[in-house]
Parts: sequence; C-alpha cells; structure tokens
Amino acid sequence: MSNNGSTVGSVSIRNVTKIFDPEGAHVLALDNCSLEIPAGEFCVIVGPSGCGKTTLLNAIAGFHGISSGEISLDGVPICTPEKMAEPGADRIVVFQNGALFPWYTVMENVIYGPVVQGKMTEAEARQAAGKILGEMGLQGIANCYINEISSGMRRRVEIARAMVNDLKILLMDEPYRAMDALTKSVMHKHLLDVYDRAHKTIFFITHDLEEAIYLGSRVVVMTTRPGRIKKVIDVDIPRPRDLQVLASERYRELKMEVLEAVQEEARKAFEAGEREFA
Ligand SMILES: Nc1ncnc2c1ncn2[C@@H]1O[C@H](COP(=O)(O)OP(=O)(O)O)[C@@H](O)[C@H]1O
Ligand SMILES: [Mg+2]
Repeated sequence: MSNNGSTVGSVSIRNVTKIFDPEGAHVLALDNCSLEIPAGEFCVIVGPSGCGKTTLLNAIAGFHGISSGEISLDGVPICTPEKMAEPGADRIVVFQNGALFPWYTVMENVIYGPVVQGKMTEAEARQAAGKILGEMGLQGIANCYINEISSGMRRRVEIARAMVNDLKILLMDEPYRAMDALTKSVMHKHLLDVYDRAHKTIFFITHDLEEAIYLGSRVVVMTTRPGRIKKVIDVDIPRPRDLQVLASERYRELKMEVLEAVQEEARKAFEAGEREFA
C-alpha cells in the first residue's frame, strides 16, 4: 500500500547479488538482497561503511549492473544481470557533492533536463520550474548562479531540479553528510515539506541514525559486507513531523532499536578487520 496516496514509484528488489570483479578480486558487495518499497514511501537505508548501500542505489539509478536477481520499478524490470537499468528522469540522484552546472543559474539548472530531452519548451519548463521553486521557497534565488548559493541551497535546488522531471523516485546518497547540525536540521524540514507535498518515493542512504528515524517511514538496516537486509524497522511516527518528534518516547525507542542492529553489524565489521590485521 502507498504511504501517501502515490500510485507510482514502487520499487521491487528481488534476490539481488552484486559481485565486483576488478582484475579477479571478486568483491561480493550485495548478497541476495530483497526489499519491496511501496509507491510513495520514504525508505531509509543504514549500515556499516562499505556494506553495499551505494551499490544498491547505483543499480537502481542505472550506474552499474547486478550479478543476479532483478530490480523492478512499478512492476517493470529495469535491472537484471543481462541488462543494467538505463539512467532516466524518473530516477534522480541527489549526491553529497552535488551535480549542478556552476555556469548556469538556479532556474537554468532546473529547466535544463526537460528542455534538453525535448519534453517541454523553454517557456513551459520555466513555468513548471517557477511553480516548484515557489513551493520550495526558492523563488528568490532563481537567478543566482550556483557558486553564489550555499551548499544547503544547492541540495534544495537539486531536489527542485528532480521534481521538474517525470520523477518517480528520488535517490539520495548521504546528501547531508558534510553539513553542520543546524544546516542539516533546516534541510530536514525542507525535505519533509517536499515529501509531504510531492508524494514521491524517496530512497535515502545515511549514517545518521537520528536523521534516519526523523525522516523515514521505514529504516532498513543492512549487514556488514556482503550486504544483506538485516532488519526493517517501521517508523510509526505520524506525519507531518516536526522537531517535537525528537523529544518523544517512541522516537527514543526506535533509535535504540536501530542503534542496536547497526552496532551489532559494526562490531562484526570491526572484528573481521581485527582478524585481517592479526
Ligand atoms: N567499482 C567497484 N569496484 C570494486 N569494488 C567496489 C566498487 N564499488 C564498490 N566496491 C566495493 O563494494 C563494497 C560496497 O561498496 P559501497 O556500496 O560503496 O558501500 P557503502 O555505500 O555501503 O559504504 C565495498 O567493499 C566497496 O569497496
Ligand atoms: Mg556509500
């Protein structure tokens, strides 16, 4: 069932295994991962460093293939061992380091995709972009160049740019990792606003367990490499959410549950490392 009335953007990850084989090294990054993400869910992935989170996101985005299994979007297989997904405007990635064109303004960045792909005329794209920038409170910076705005603003512009496309799923790989706590908390508010309004599926990777619970509808904990799905925790905190959530008993319970699962995996990773160096 959809979380917020969405009917598009369901992702089905079935028995996905990914082996990287650079010069015969044979790194098993994902081991038989299965996960069903309903349309419109805010799904958060956590797990030890190197456990395969980015590998999974990249397979959905179409940046690399998989070794076995299948990934479907709205019931249509998009990634199989025979054929990797094609990157598309329906799956947009927001990176930690951003991917905006510095020589364009905010408006030019947002309209770039649909115009280049011939999906809208420039006038149509400007109108659509103006609406989204307005909803996101970004109209005041529409004519600024990217190097004139803060990194927080850039993350928000990336989301606006994704929204103007035929977006089904927003893929976010630790987008706020390098930010200070205050900026991060502003980013969270804006992202929650976008989520509550736009009804898009979000696949969000983070190391920050507080962020995971504050934002997510479910938190998926992965095992230490090879990455498997260890535990899926339902975040049964109602939306819209605000900072009061952080003071609630339920939030603390959930945080403890996620922390225990992640710590168990981090300990395994550490012990494996110790053995390697012994
Ligand atoms: N292109 C690649 N070639 C070889 N190994 C890779 C490649 N990409 C990732 N890996 C390995 O796969 C594992 C999972 O990586 P990644 O998905 O980036 O982890 P995470 O995002 O959870 O930190 C790591 O051991 C990493 O070194
Ligand atoms: Mg990663």
